Amino acid sequence: MTSLLRTKSIDKLLAEADEPEHRLRKTLGPWSLTALGIGAIIGTGIFVLTGTAAAGEVLEVGSILKAPLLDVLLHGRHALGVAGRPGAGPAIALSFFLVAIACALAGLCYAELASMIPIAGSAYTYAYATLGELVAWIIGWDLILEYAVSNMAVAVGFSAYIDSLLGGFGLRLPASVSNPVFDDSLRLTGSSFNLVGFLVVMMLTVVLVRGIRESADINNFMVTVKLIAILIFIVAASRHVQVSNWKPLMPNGWQGVLTGGAIVFFTYIGFDSVSTAAEETRNPQKDVPFGIIASLIICTILYCSVAIVLTGIQNWRELRNAAPVAHALEYIHLYGVERSVTIGALMGMLSSLLVFQLGQARVWFAMSRDGLLPEAFSRVHRKFRTPHVSTWVAGFFVAVPAALFNIGTLSDLANIGTLFAFILVSLGVLVLRRKQPERRRAFRAPWAPVLPVAAIACCLILMASLPLETWLRFFVWLVIGLAIYFAYGRHHSEFGRAPRAPAVVREGVVAPNL
Ligand code: ALA
Repeated sequence: MTSLLRTKSIDKLLAEADEPEHRLRKTLGPWSLTALGIGAIIGTGIFVLTGTAAAGEVLEVGSILKAPLLDVLLHGRHALGVAGRPGAGPAIALSFFLVAIACALAGLCYAELASMIPIAGSAYTYAYATLGELVAWIIGWDLILEYAVSNMAVAVGFSAYIDSLLGGFGLRLPASVSNPVFDDSLRLTGSSFNLVGFLVVMMLTVVLVRGIRESADINNFMVTVKLIAILIFIVAASRHVQVSNWKPLMPNGWQGVLTGGAIVFFTYIGFDSVSTAAEETRNPQKDVPFGIIASLIICTILYCSVAIVLTGIQNWRELRNAAPVAHALEYIHLYGVERSVTIGALMGMLSSLLVFQLGQARVWFAMSRDGLLPEAFSRVHRKFRTPHVSTWVAGFFVAVPAALFNIGTLSDLANIGTLFAFILVSLGVLVLRRKQPERRRAFRAPWAPVLPVAAIACCLILMASLPLETWLRFFVWLVIGLAIYFAYGRHHSEFGRAPRAPAVVREGVVAPNL
């Protein structure tokens, strides 16, 4: 039992990250990290979910699995009768702001741990240093879920988006290469393979293997384009705001604001991935906290502005559709702006895909370096100094399911996985403040222990508002993870192995330490 709680010393973690065969290239600065954060945060969510969160959601009546866990706990079988979730109305900007505060609380905890343990594994590594190997494994497995599932959903969405974009020019992709092979009920759709979804992930994989600098440069470009698109929307559409659309401000009271918050939480996912690039940062102790906090602040300002303008140009009740920003622009006849928003959304998808694949590969890499996953995953490319094997693995791990299944409906899994990671990171801050109060922290989260406890409470509230079915899927994922840990990781982790000789490096390959 105690072996499951064994923790890894921070000094050892840092020393291993510096071993020549595992060393990644350190080229990123504070603004590249901020751009990576914005790249991951602003994806499709702001263009899609803002409408649903303002207008409310119609749920499938009769299925208890669709009801939020909290409702099921409070009302039992009566939660069956829930017919919908009230929207925030024009107060959706307030929902964005409240969720930003919840994310900022967790973000400050991430920043403290990242400044102490600037290692590629992010929350996984922090858990290894604080809460023990088993929890570390669970969180690593959970992070893979967060990054992989959201990217599968984005890749599927990307192919649908490209198809509809081409449709605007009278072109159509053959359904056999742009649709998933199976539908939501696992029935064959007639498509052979979603080649578009597959290729977009694999092309970004090639970029990620080629180098962290190259990936960051491409990301910077995409971030610039999408920021310009959002700014164009805010400036151009704000002239068409009708104050009457903002009245009443909170048609469904605080319940609507909170429910809207649970929906838009997805739009903030991604700032945590900044910490996975810590090992590739020149001055991680300062730059990682900066990147996390700066990207959160910039995105919050943009999100609140988009929400205020969007609900000002069209009545909130009419925003419940798959592309509320585009439709609202059509409504006020700003077709040129609509096109720029389309390009912004496309860039949002690509940069989100890129940064999440980057983060996912670093988690595979860090877990392998600790022996919890096969050793090959921690190989570093001799020339590019990137974790190329784990990057390819992460690529296929996302691209193949994206080509086969209609993953879009699983995106709630990304929410629950992220919230769970936030909780463990906040716990990690509490544990390290107690266990190693003297260790240098280049960044300290203020008001501890109140702040980490508040972060945990906010995450629990948001998790409780997710449907029961998401909890069940999450549970199944964790059970699969635990089976792998007990079958493999536990015996191969550094603690599980006999003392070993130093690793032998031959042509950039780490020889197994038998
Ligand atoms: N935050 C990302 C998005 O909104 C996942 O698409």
